[in-house]
Amino acid sequence: MSKRSFFSGGPLSALSLLSAILFLMITIGAAGAAANNAEEGVRASGFLVKKEKRTTVVSTEYGEISAARATDNINGSYLLHFFTLDPNSLFLPVVLHADMVFYVHTGSGKLSWTEEDELRTTDLIRGDVYRLEEGSVFFLQSNLETTKTERQKLRIHAIFTDPINALHEPITGPYSSIRDMVLGFDSKVLQAAFNVPAEVIDEILNGTKPPAIIHGVTKTKKSTSSWEVETQFVRALLRGNVYNYNIFETNKKKKKSSVKLFNLFKESKDFENCNGWSTTVTRKKLSALKGSHIGLFMVNLTTGSMMGPHWNPTATEVAVVLQGRGMVRVVCASVSNETECKNRRFEVEEGDVFVVPRFHPMAQMAFNNGTLVFMGFSSSAKRNHPQYLAGQASVFRTLDRDVLALAFDISNTTLDQLVGPQKDSVILGCVSCAEEELRIVEEEREKERQRKEEEAKEREKERKREEEEAAKKEEEERQKREEEEEEAKKKKEEEEERK
Ligand SMILES: *[C@@H]1O[C@H](CO)[C@@H](O)[C@H](O)[C@H]1NC(C)=O
Ligand SMILES: *[C@@H]1O[C@H](CO)[C@@H](O)[C@H](O)[C@H]1NC(C)=O
Ligand SMILES: *[C@@H]1O[C@H](CO)[C@@H](O)[C@H](O)[C@H]1NC(C)=O
Ligand SMILES: *[C@@H]1O[C@H](CO)[C@@H](O)[C@H](O)[C@H]1NC(C)=O
Ligand SMILES: *[C@@H]1O[C@H](CO)[C@@H](O)[C@H](O)[C@H]1NC(C)=O
Ligand SMILES: *[C@@H]1O[C@H](CO)[C@@H](O)[C@H](O)[C@H]1NC(C)=O
Repeated sequence: MSKRSFFSGGPLSALSLLSAILFLMITIGAAGAAANNAEEGVRASGFLVKKEKRTTVVSTEYGEISAARATDNINGSYLLHFFTLDPNSLFLPVVLHADMVFYVHTGSGKLSWTEEDELRTTDLIRGDVYRLEEGSVFFLQSNLETTKTERQKLRIHAIFTDPINALHEPITGPYSSIRDMVLGFDSKVLQAAFNVPAEVIDEILNGTKPPAIIHGVTKTKKSTSSWEVETQFVRALLRGNVYNYNIFETNKKKKKSSVKLFNLFKESKDFENCNGWSTTVTRKKLSALKGSHIGLFMVNLTTGSMMGPHWNPTATEVAVVLQGRGMVRVVCASVSNETECKNRRFEVEEGDVFVVPRFHPMAQMAFNNGTLVFMGFSSSAKRNHPQYLAGQASVFRTLDRDVLALAFDISNTTLDQLVGPQKDSVILGCVSCAEEELRIVEEEREKERQRKEEEAKEREKERKREEEEAAKKEEEERQKREEEEEEAKKKKEEEEERK
């Protein structure tokens, strides 16, 4: 465990003490840290989270972070954060409470993080994927990159995972600001811990809390802004020395063994044909994934094609649509014990998140008028071999034909007709399939609308009937009262006459 921690015992014993305290705080996600978790109150939103249903975690002048929590209705929820940094911005250091696996969607920048007791830095470009371990401190800078038409924002999609429960999100929130964690202590403790004059601590304590994302600081700037002081603290925690630290110099001072990210566009694809391509990133390709149980994948479906029906025997998939629109069909595994498993078909578009649990056959389809590109995270503890139903890679081609014929209750000649013809595999042409799925969805939606309308009408009728009844009852009671009053009056008159 302590190997994961970013404090590996500084030279000062007081620092070790502080380390121990901070370490405890991280481990149990306590008090000050928890109160300022960047993440709170993202409601579970089911297997599909539309882009507009994401929760805003941070929103500043220079960028924002939104969150989506998706569930598979079986085994809990998956937490994703979408970082967007304007060009030349800085996401201030945070401590990770969980492993973070991420994908760089657009733009470029620089990632700095602590590993063991080193501060590491690497450039980020579109398509890069990597994993940071829980307990690391990291921060992000976006480059001032300008294309002909626009200034590219740095966009990063990240999932936070519990290293034991694969994709499952941490209980304590994904990360917390390094400042909050340090400044939870009072001045005396910090002074002793860092062995620095009171003024240094005061300056930090007196500083106002900066927003999570701020304007980038140029390398030549002399004055120490409050975030620089904070990054010095990170450094101090690592080195046991608050002074002589400048984050921009770390790389020059000491060349580290270079950090190798995996780039989804630069490496060769796992599968490619005229209908599209798909690729996966496993521990074999990216050693940073070792010990994590997480894999990544990306699929590009050209117009009118489909990821052939398949299921994952060991992986649940959490996917994010990067480009275009399409339809997804998910079928229930018949022996599953989910609370409410319904076969689903739904439309997805850029920015949507969807979950497909393992053993649930699925197919993703692109419309005839555009490509569909999505990437995602999968929980494959072991190597996951997707099982395809149709095509050259069909699982049916490996099973005994006579047994299979019995399973489907068809003759073996019919079976040959079923399994034989598809010459493609994995990604298949499927012209107008998405359109057909969409038509069915719309039809079902229309039926549902009509059913609701009927119900509403029925309720309205019922209400009217109750109203009428109530009115009738009231009328009857009124009459009864009148009669009683009449009666009483008569009685009174009679009594008076008798007198
Ligand atoms: C649910 O989670 C447990 C432990 O995290 C795992 O062993 C199990 O395979 C998961 N079940 C499904 C259906 O994914
Ligand atoms: C910090 O604030 C305290 C009290 O508000 C003040 O006495 C002290 O001079 C300030 N220190 C610095 C370095 O600004
Ligand atoms: C997906 O494929 C289409 C067509 O081949 C291409 O135009 C598009 O740029 C690709 N998208 C990505 C993200 O690679
Ligand atoms: C399904 O789950 C319920 C409650 O979790 C349990 O009582 C039942 O035995 C399970 N059924 C099967 C077939 O596993
Ligand atoms: C593409 O086709 C779908 C389904 O027919 C339709 O809803 C959508 O508006 C089309 N998109 C464009 C850009 O024409
Ligand atoms: C189909 O099944 C029948 C009955 O089991 C068997 O006699 C026949 O040889 C099979 N045909 C082929 C082509 O395997």
